[in-house]
Amino acid sequence: MKGIVFTEFLEMVETSFGLETVDFIITKSKLKSQGAYTAVGVYDFFEMQQLIIHLSEKTNISKEDLIYTYGCYFFNTLVRIHPDIFKHYSSPFAMLASVEDHIHVQVKKLYPGADLPTFEVIEFKDDYLEMIYHSNNAMYMFAKALMDKTFEYYDQDSNITYIKLKKDGTKVKFLIS
Ligand code: HEM
Repeated sequence: MKGIVFTEFLEMVETSFGLETVDFIITKSKLKSQGAYTAVGVYDFFEMQQLIIHLSEKTNISKEDLIYTYGCYFFNTLVRIHPDIFKHYSSPFAMLASVEDHIHVQVKKLYPGADLPTFEVIEFKDDYLEMIYHSNNAMYMFAKALMDKTFEYYDQDSNITYIKLKKDGTKVKFLIS
């Protein structure tokens, strides 16, 4: 997992819960990196899992809700550092349908070592998109957050539901309208 995902995560934790909570989750987690991340580095996803588990323990907020909240935060980061990518698309459907074949392809070049999910488009119409998320990281709530925020960015209402095709969340179907 790219370092930017860690640096932004710890920044969100600091802003929302304070520096003491950042220290707590780093100390509680077994981290090869010892919690010292750089945006361009690459770290084990296991470290992110630990940080989220401990943040959930400390705050009594479910892991799913924390990952969702983090996805919303990360979206704002993406808009700030890659405004050009968003300007390229005129509709949220077009943008989301392009994550697999365009956006994350560019991301692979810009962020060497990025560990990206796969989105398999099942149906794509002007006002409906169905796609399946695949990733061993099971960050489907991160995907849900980025999808919700994409519609918000284009100032459009949306109804996004999902069906877990695998219980552990590594394969999830999204129905977007
Ligand atoms: C400007 C647009 C975007 C950029 C630059 C971008 C970039 C990235 C980067 C750098 C990561 C971290 C990779 C790693 O962990 O090594 C990531 C992960 C991810 N991205 Fe994107 N992304 C964009 C848009 C989207 C959108 C719109 C979606 C929603 C469908 C999405 C879904 C995800 C998910 C779910 C992950 C988490 C990794 C996983 O589940 O395995 N991304 N993206």
